[in-house]
Amino acid sequence: MNPALDNAVYLNGEFMPLIDARIPVLDRGFIFGDGVYEVVPVYSRQPFRLDEHLRRLDNSLAAIRLQNPHSHAEWRALLEQLIARQDCEDQYIYLHITRGAAKRDHAFPIGVAPTIFMMSSPLITPPQSLLESGIAAITAEDNRWLRCDIKATSLLSNVLLRQLAIDAGASETILLRDGNMIEGSASSVFVVHRDTVLAPPKNHLMLPGITYDVVLELAARNGIRHEIREIPEHEMRSAQELWLLSSTREVLAITTLDGKPVGNGKPGALFKRMYGLYQDYKKTVMRRPHAEAAAS
Ligand code: PDD
Repeated sequence: MNPALDNAVYLNGEFMPLIDARIPVLDRGFIFGDGVYEVVPVYSRQPFRLDEHLRRLDNSLAAIRLQNPHSHAEWRALLEQLIARQDCEDQYIYLHITRGAAKRDHAFPIGVAPTIFMMSSPLITPPQSLLESGIAAITAEDNRWLRCDIKATSLLSNVLLRQLAIDAGASETILLRDGNMIEGSASSVFVVHRDTVLAPPKNHLMLPGITYDVVLELAARNGIRHEIREIPEHEMRSAQELWLLSSTREVLAITTLDGKPVGNGKPGALFKRMYGLYQDYKKTVMRRPHAEAAAS
């Protein structure tokens, strides 16, 4: 990507090329990681599950005691303008709000405007080869804070944990806390055990994933057995299948865990079924322009 040609950026009320987007060094996002974010996939120029992403943004902002600068209708209108500026039909929007720029002091500044940043990038969904091979994951003890339900920009633990996977030649690190599987460093993780999809319960220790909800809805609608409950480490290690879920990676099979095959080491039958259901569901949203808008 040539940043000079990339026009799909919004900063504090203006659209501009990425190269012109500048923030003051005293921005609290830069100094403290004092902000929250969202990543919204866009298929055929339609934002996917935007209402759900905006509701999660509301929750993240409320949790850090920062007022939402826009209504959902305003966000939707801004996103539409941003999407129109990007060449690709399939995109992902990165949306980021910080507590603004102020003299460095941990306490909240008074009367400071938040910084609002958004950019759209081409969305490259996992290629066929990866769908067929699946991906490798490793495990690590979850050393993040106790408010992982907030989609906070302070992601140092997530960054360090993800790098462990890269260093080991894998692509995701699955996090364990108190003997239970929680999620990936930047993804949700489901386990298939005895033909039942197991999802860890949403609580303050994990991000409430939007893809998590979509996949459980699809399971419910299509008669696939599923359960939401704590998943002890041994169940993850003896899983029939493991799935990685995220807005940008959709649903992927994890076929190796800590160097050992998951099940028979190939993407499983339930994964293949769910992948197909997910693609079909995406198409229904894409073919009905503004279907989600109409529903909101
Ligand atoms: N990450 N858990 C964590 C810690 C995540 O960072 C993500 C997504 C998810 C999946 O959430 P969703 O299905 O809503 O994308 C779970 C995004 C994609 C990111 O940080 O880039």
